[in-house]
Amino acid sequence: MEAQIEYSASEASKILKLEEREFLERAKSLKIPGIKSGRFKGSVLMKYFNVPEESEFDSTIIAISNQKGGEGKTTISLYLSEALALHCKVLLVDWDPQANVTQLYSKEDGPSIMDCLSYRGRKPLELSKIIKEITDTFHIVPSSLELANLTTPYERDDFELLSEALMPVRSSYEYIIIDCPPSLGLILENALIAADYVLVPIQTRAFSLQGIKDLYETISKIQKKANQRLKLLGAVLNQYESQKALAGLAEGIKKYFPVFETVIHRRESIPQAQAKMTPLAKIDQNTLKNFKELANELKEKLNVQKK
Ligand SMILES: Nc1ncnc2c1ncn2[C@@H]1O[C@H](COP(=O)(O)OP(=O)(O)OP(=O)(O)O)[C@@H](O)[C@H]1O
Ligand SMILES: [Mg+2]
Repeated sequence: MEAQIEYSASEASKILKLEEREFLERAKSLKIPGIKSGRFKGSVLMKYFNVPEESEFDSTIIAISNQKGGEGKTTISLYLSEALALHCKVLLVDWDPQANVTQLYSKEDGPSIMDCLSYRGRKPLELSKIIKEITDTFHIVPSSLELANLTTPYERDDFELLSEALMPVRSSYEYIIIDCPPSLGLILENALIAADYVLVPIQTRAFSLQGIKDLYETISKIQKKANQRLKLLGAVLNQYESQKALAGLAEGIKKYFPVFETVIHRRESIPQAQAKMTPLAKIDQNTLKNFKELANELKEKLNVQKK
């Protein structure tokens, strides 16, 4: 239900799962605005009929991707999500067979994202059944090594498996962050087709311009052929240590991607938080602040892009 839209009595009763007659009786006895005109505003219906507010976010899906290993995809996915979850509802999707995010939050193997994909004739589980609620506003979708089997497209739909699985929960979250694996191929393509935006972490110490060009070409291919909605948010420089090294580097990257002004500094507390399996907030507020800055710049960029 959309707050700003006006619904007829028959539309409203269908959404509220009431008989139309029952809906009208209750609307009359509550004297809700719209009873005379027969047009009911979504926001009014939500108020008087206790519709949970959560099913109405216009969510933004962001794939965190770089086919090179160890660039900071998982780190940025984790702590950008943690920072965003301070004010918004966030779902972090572990979309990597290495399952690094999943291992931080659970020790035993449970159902994973692979069980929710209708790949090779599987009957998929609903995604909402496997979501783990870490806090009220921070939820994760676990992964497992099984996801590595997603290699060959057998049907056209096999590029849209993740997009389909996410659709029913999409409106429950403001941000959905997808932690991608270090590879180009069907897993990455599924992420880029499900996403609205791509963010590319780049490790400043050992960066490869060829790798960046390959990723740029994959993203352009997906934009042209499969997902015209997909936009490049830009590159985030990670493990950043000195201004000196930055000048030439950022120029090289800018040929392909816009570069975020916020850089993520190299901090020991990052591997420490991961080793101890705790949120960054518990270990190092200062480093979390760095990710809050990134979250703020991201929100600004999204506002600009949405206009
Ligand atoms: N800013 C940082 N400061 C210190 N250590 C970092 C930082 N960013 C990442 N690391 C460490 O570098 C390693 C690689 O980071 P991470 O796992 O986030 O990369 P990745 O791109 O997800 O790797 P993969 O491609 O294998 O999925 C990890 O041990 C992580 O703790
Ligand atoms: Mg990773």
